Amino acid sequence: MEAGEAKKRIEQLRAIIEHHNYLYYVLDAPEISDAEYDALMKELQELEAAYPQFVTADSPTQRVGGAPAEAFQTVAHPMPLLSLNNAYNTDELMEFDRRVKKQAPAEPLTYVGEQKIDGLTVALLYQDGVLVQGATRGDGLRGEDVTANIRTIRSIPLKLRGRVPGRVLVRGEVFMTKDAFQELNRERERTGQPLFANPRNAAAGSLRQLDPAVTAARPLDVFLYDLLLWEGAALPPTHWEAQDLLKEWGLKVNPYSRLCSSIEEVVEYCREWEEKRATLPWEIDGVVVKVNSLTLQERMGATAKAPRAKIAYKFSPEEAFTRVREIQVNVGRTGVLTPLAILEPVRVGGSTVSRATLHNEDYIREKDIRVGDVVVIRKAGEIIPEVVRVVPEHRTGAEKPFIMPAKCPACGAAVYREPGEAAIRCLGASCPAQQKEKIIHFASKNAMDIAGVGPAVVNLLVDKGLIKDAAGLYDLTAKDLVGLERFGAKSAENLLAAVERSKENPPERLLFALGIRHVGEEMARRLVGHFRDLDRIFTAGKEELMAVPEIGEAIADSIRRYVEEAQNKEFLERLRRAGLKFKAEEREAAAEPLQGKTFVLTGTLAAFTREEAEEILRGLGARVTSSVSKKTDYVVAGENPGSKYQKALDLNVPVLSEDEFLRLLEELRATGSESSQRRDDQ
Ligand code: IVH
Repeated sequence: MEAGEAKKRIEQLRAIIEHHNYLYYVLDAPEISDAEYDALMKELQELEAAYPQFVTADSPTQRVGGAPAEAFQTVAHPMPLLSLNNAYNTDELMEFDRRVKKQAPAEPLTYVGEQKIDGLTVALLYQDGVLVQGATRGDGLRGEDVTANIRTIRSIPLKLRGRVPGRVLVRGEVFMTKDAFQELNRERERTGQPLFANPRNAAAGSLRQLDPAVTAARPLDVFLYDLLLWEGAALPPTHWEAQDLLKEWGLKVNPYSRLCSSIEEVVEYCREWEEKRATLPWEIDGVVVKVNSLTLQERMGATAKAPRAKIAYKFSPEEAFTRVREIQVNVGRTGVLTPLAILEPVRVGGSTVSRATLHNEDYIREKDIRVGDVVVIRKAGEIIPEVVRVVPEHRTGAEKPFIMPAKCPACGAAVYREPGEAAIRCLGASCPAQQKEKIIHFASKNAMDIAGVGPAVVNLLVDKGLIKDAAGLYDLTAKDLVGLERFGAKSAENLLAAVERSKENPPERLLFALGIRHVGEEMARRLVGHFRDLDRIFTAGKEELMAVPEIGEAIADSIRRYVEEAQNKEFLERLRRAGLKFKAEEREAAAEPLQGKTFVLTGTLAAFTREEAEEILRGLGARVTSSVSKKTDYVVAGENPGSKYQKALDLNVPVLSEDEFLRLLEELRATGSESSQRRDDQ
């Protein structure tokens, strides 16, 4: 390629790449793939390598360049970078509004509300549209020249778009998103480097690297908010319009700024973001309120420290120091024991906090939280406050390590921690903390199916002290119920009848109803199918239990733990005395002619619902599973069979139509009655 042609192509490529940079980093709306972008970059790099005379500082290939510096140069800001006065509550915002109105009694007043980004201030200087300097705030008059590092931030354009006046100074905030911060810390943890305390420190640490290559590898981002200097043209009349100009030039501005027509709207904006701050990808620590008119801003002027036309509304901090007075343990409805720190009350995240969750035993051990420790607590958004870390410098030696209780604090039953789980659970069948959940499960449709005993009635019965556990249902009398809200003579009678009827349920339902961990409906059926008697299940050793197909170690252990707890033994005895069935009905071999056969149902049957068909098959000793495999003996296909039908054909599994299925049932019934007749004859 001839030099003139190369120069033209280089310029063209730069313009294209810059456009895509803008779409990707500033607007977050890319139009080409990473591969296409990389190809453009590669072409530019190759051309620039071949024609080094055409390399310029504002080329997109030149973001990361230069050797590490010895130290940063100090630079004087073209104009002072002031700080802000703070408002800590609505009253102080109202006072600010009164002060502004004193200066501008007649003018219609508007404000701009902006998120106060928790990052670090930078001032960017563009000369004829080209980035020539990036500086930190420093003492406001002089900062550090971090131009080489600023250039590595992809959302900062090296060149402004459109027609730009001679000298432009913009102020903004460099930050790191919460996700990027966490990712960076994970990486540092892996490689044994010290962790950053928060995204702000991570951003500051990254921008103040002497080697720009290190900064380039850190995911920094920016929002620009103030136009400080605009040489060669007049400033726009309002801050809101200045924001639009920044956007036009390709600078990244915060999309959540709001134009407010009264201080009340400003207050609403502050309230809104104080509540929603946790949902943002970046951290904010307040709202900056700015008089919109730039002429009024000018007129109001500044003190040595801060402009009079702007104020920072500071959120109450999300973190605070306090002391752990005590560690309590709560038992949840599902029996999980959760440690809870009782704290010296402290204001944080907009309210007074006196307790914080400690999650589980591992959390306490990892953070080494002891009773008496000074800790940092954090309340972000609506999340329950939690203990972030201990402040070991405050330890006196009197702090007491915490040990999780070996017994349930609510009922005294044994507790158990399953391998691989962080949660510790109470094993008690009559634990008051879990009583309602357990009774609701016991009475539910697939368990003991006691009509009328749902969550509302269980709540009522427990709260009135009429029952303490599911066994208590069998001691209820009409006298207990009549007169309770929602109970008349008839409904009481119905409920007692349903309770009575439930005594007839087969033992597999009762076993499921006990709510033993890992013993679901199917496992309960298998266990009863094998042992025929709950007492035999409860006295079986672990090995014996595991001899049943599909019963593994976790289930066997869980059953053993359940029956070893004294509280549960007593509970089972009460159920037995109430007359519940612990033994399966005697059955003849012929009564279960499908013993050992596996069925799968698909499609709609005309004669039965899916559940009824399953019930019938199970009654005949068959297993009913939900997916077809080589081990399936028969697939019963009704109307509109699904993919299971095709699978059966593929695997050569016999398929029965509904008619064939009915005929099979008919035949089995006939032979079944024959065999029982024979028995009668004997
Ligand atoms: S305006 C004259 N707007 O907050 C000061 N500042 O506590 C003009 N900050 O150091 C600042 N987000 O760096 C302004 N949207 C925003 C801001 C913001 C964060 C920082 C700013 C300043 C600090 C003041």
